[in-house]
Amino acid sequence: MIFTRNTKILAIETSCDETAISIIEVKKSFFGPYQFSILSNIVATQVELHAKYGGVFPAMAKREHAKNIVPLFIEAMNEAGLVSNSEKDTDLSRIKEILQREDALFEMFEKDIAGLENPGFDAIAVTNGPGLEPTLWVGICFAKALGQLWNIPVVPTNHMEGHIVSFLPQKENNDFELRIPNLKFPLVSLLVSGGHTEIVLVKGLGKYKIVGRTRDDAVGEAFDKVARVLGLPYPGGPEVSRLARAHRESGLSDEIKFPRPMIHSKDFDFSYSGLKTAVRYYVEENPIKDEVDKQKVARAFEDAAIECLVEKTFKAIKKYKPKRLIVGGGVSANTYLRNELISRLQKNKINIPVEFPRSDMTGDNALMIGIAGALHFMRNKKSATSIKLVADGNLELG
Ligand code: KG4
Ligand code: ZN
Repeated sequence: MIFTRNTKILAIETSCDETAISIIEVKKSFFGPYQFSILSNIVATQVELHAKYGGVFPAMAKREHAKNIVPLFIEAMNEAGLVSNSEKDTDLSRIKEILQREDALFEMFEKDIAGLENPGFDAIAVTNGPGLEPTLWVGICFAKALGQLWNIPVVPTNHMEGHIVSFLPQKENNDFELRIPNLKFPLVSLLVSGGHTEIVLVKGLGKYKIVGRTRDDAVGEAFDKVARVLGLPYPGGPEVSRLARAHRESGLSDEIKFPRPMIHSKDFDFSYSGLKTAVRYYVEENPIKDEVDKQKVARAFEDAAIECLVEKTFKAIKKYKPKRLIVGGGVSANTYLRNELISRLQKNKINIPVEFPRSDMTGDNALMIGIAGALHFMRNKKSATSIKLVADGNLELG
């Protein structure tokens, strides 16, 4: 399909504890690269709210999304300079039906959005899973209501596909080029977050095969639980990692050795619940006395957790011989993981690039949803929009 004009996409992400809105514009000429412009990219995190409980509370998360999504959307529209009022009177009866379980959201929609003109959006990309179903529904209902108001399609987008494509915008600036035709496949994608630990074989855009996954806890979840055992705030990943680094840099030896579950299994799967339990037992038997004790445990845990990721990723690289390794998800921010992957590639003389998301795209965001949604929408409008749009907490990549 030849695109001679810009495609403008609104993207919405509400799968967990981040409400996120992004507005992107994509230009594509027949032979040229995709030219992306980020007009707005906002993330409102609920981390502080959930920190008190040591994890995400779905009912509370849903309420927060419903409260924040309209103001966040207006903020994004203002940032992109796209707010203009419509002259015509809108019949809201269908929108009221779409938002029938979201009274407060409907009221805000009626007050602040119903009178807005469509500033040229071609489609709305929204996360339809995996994630927490109550929170996913907020984003989906909001997207459907806007789609109805402006008579534009809503593109269901897989959250994990978002994490896969999040390596694409390499620079921190707002305009970037994607030379998609130059991207050689297959790729091996390591997806590591609070809810997922997967190795995905990427055979093309939209062509995914999960070759390995965790049998129990996700690696981010293990970081969060170990943080709790060490009395650190939620989410624990960055804190545990900071303590581990301090211990490594102090030159002290790694005297504790935690198990590396499944590291030698013949598949590409992971298991983190035994490691987490081992840390808990160790701390029960050897109570933390000082900061160095804390650092020691954090380091021993991180060493074990990351070694499992690196080992299985390289096993997958050996088997599938990808053109590059890509990493995504909250735990891809982990410096030790990044360094270990890079040095393992060098040590094994495997000459492929390894790509990580830029710093604002490791955690959940709507930009990655916009990129994944835009690529599908621009390549094949019909198949992207004909899928039934419901929240699916366990949505698989496929
Ligand atoms: O992708 P994400 O923002 O949300 C989910 O979809 O789960 O990932 C959040 C997870 C949390 O478990 C958090 O502790 C972990 O990513 N995380 C880290 C680091 N930064 C975030 N884990 C280890 N090291 C980090 N630097
Ligand atoms: Zn995520």
